[in-house]
Amino acid sequence: MNSYGNDDIHAWFGRYTRHHMLINSTDRYPVSLKIVHCQRVRREALTLGRDLALDTRDLGITDAAGLLHDIGRFPQYSTHKTFVDSVSVNHAELGARVLKENLVLRKFSQREQERILTAIRYHNRAVLPADRDRKVHLLSRMLRDADKLDIWRVFTEHNKLSKDARNNTVDQDLPDGDSCSEKALADIMARKLVDYRHIVSKNDFALMRLAWVYDVNFTHTFREILARNYLQTLHLTLPQNDKIKVAFEAALTYVEQRAAGL
Ligand SMILES: [Fe+2]
Repeated sequence: MNSYGNDDIHAWFGRYTRHHMLINSTDRYPVSLKIVHCQRVRREALTLGRDLALDTRDLGITDAAGLLHDIGRFPQYSTHKTFVDSVSVNHAELGARVLKENLVLRKFSQREQERILTAIRYHNRAVLPADRDRKVHLLSRMLRDADKLDIWRVFTEHNKLSKDARNNTVDQDLPDGDSCSEKALADIMARKLVDYRHIVSKNDFALMRLAWVYDVNFTHTFREILARNYLQTLHLTLPQNDKIKVAFEAALTYVEQRAAGL
């Protein structure tokens, strides 16, 4: 796939991630998961960017932002051995710092660099901050949609594995459980994102991922969610009870309407 003149950036990404593979040579799987995730988010973001008819310059910015959005995950894991920000560092802020220190974005103008760094810093916020710059806002929304599309993939593939084969970093090291927290269910029925404080088990974490549909921005993304059966697959990972069924049906109806452009 075209790298939009970002070959130097891709080469830097390869060197930087290989370095972190070496640091974690006895524990490579979480690092390799993130390398694949970065490359896939780049692809998702570019597909979305083409759907939005962005020009070549903006597609180059999309390419870099997608590939680099989770660069902070690598030093986070090397230092703290976890992807849980609340017990380590904010990986988005750390990533923006790494990119600045290494002058990774120097081929872009100052404003373009700021656009990429801001979108990266915003990508993991519970709620996207309002930004008066239209282009920053657009890139931030694209990155968040692309990230969600690929995290749903990681999550559904992870759940196809046997329990023993699953890597705990994907579930943020949360405990198993037989039910969902009432508070997490109440959030999703109110069409809200699930509050992090309401997540106490792996099931709640899956519900949080369902609730992400209420934070999706583009028609293209809603269509992809349907085409890939993400909601149905996610549903199968949860206890089969009426409350959860109602939450999934409501979410599916919402996604279908948005996919139809309503
Ligand atoms: Fe991230």
